[in-house]
Amino acid sequence: MELEIDTTKPSVARIYDYWLGGKDNFEVDRLAAEQLLKLVPDAVEMCRENRDFLRRTVTLLAGAGIRQFLDIGSGLPTQDNVHEVALRAAPDAVTVYVDNDPIVLVHGRALLAAGGNAHVIGADLREPGDIFAQAAEHLDLDRPVAVLLLSIAHFVTDDAELARVMDEIRARLASGSYIVMSHASAGETTSDATVAAAQEVYARSAPGGITPRTRPQLAALFDGLELLEPELVPVRSWRTGLRPDYSKPNVIGIVARVP
Ligand SMILES: C[S@@+](CC[C@H](N)C(=O)[O-])C[C@H]1O[C@@H](n2cnc3c(N)ncnc32)[C@H](O)[C@@H]1O
Repeated sequence: MELEIDTTKPSVARIYDYWLGGKDNFEVDRLAAEQLLKLVPDAVEMCRENRDFLRRTVTLLAGAGIRQFLDIGSGLPTQDNVHEVALRAAPDAVTVYVDNDPIVLVHGRALLAAGGNAHVIGADLREPGDIFAQAAEHLDLDRPVAVLLLSIAHFVTDDAELARVMDEIRARLASGSYIVMSHASAGETTSDATVAAAQEVYARSAPGGITPRTRPQLAALFDGLELLEPELVPVRSWRTGLRPDYSKPNVIGIVARVP
């Protein structure tokens, strides 16, 4: 995988890092992040809620006996990376991180050089065959795996392509595996103009676009899987007791079990 870091166009990994208070971002990322904040003022809060969802679901699944985590679109290392959360709950848990952004791979490998039962591979979500072939060096795919797709699937802009990716992932998972997803949703009162303006900013970034999706569109991606309660709700309301608010842009959380 190409390891050249492009500082001339924003990257979603570095925009997200900026919103989370990280230091691994450039001027071009900060400008895009600030433009997006004007359109989605809750973006920083949504990132924090997304990370809380990650902590809650990884802990839940480790508690349910899952010992293998495949985190696709892992992002730049931050507080409570998946392997750290998993190891707190289950000291024998193995994590494989996957990303296609060179800066994520460099920083991920540097973090993991310090230890921890985790590995980093460079691959693209749109090529599940390649991801699972590389992951098989570290994971036993005959046993359950939790696949994490957190704040990444909306960067696959074409609906049919995302459906194909989900089918290909599912086909490679043993019974008792899980898929955890968090995905951008526009919100009932968000104007088309605001959505279009945000899409315009993402179109200039790597990976080149964003497609917010509705809950019915997302539910269709999980046909045949068992959705854990409370099914599809904003991440901030996923098993927190907080009432879901669908009016504003939000990140929808989903945890599904492979029967
Ligand atoms: C917004 S960050 C999310 C990070 C982390 N999953 C989280 O939720 O906190 C999205 C990550 O997905 C990665 N990404 C986007 N499209 C990708 C693709 N097609 N294949 C692999 N990684 C991708 C980006 O490089 C970035 O690191």
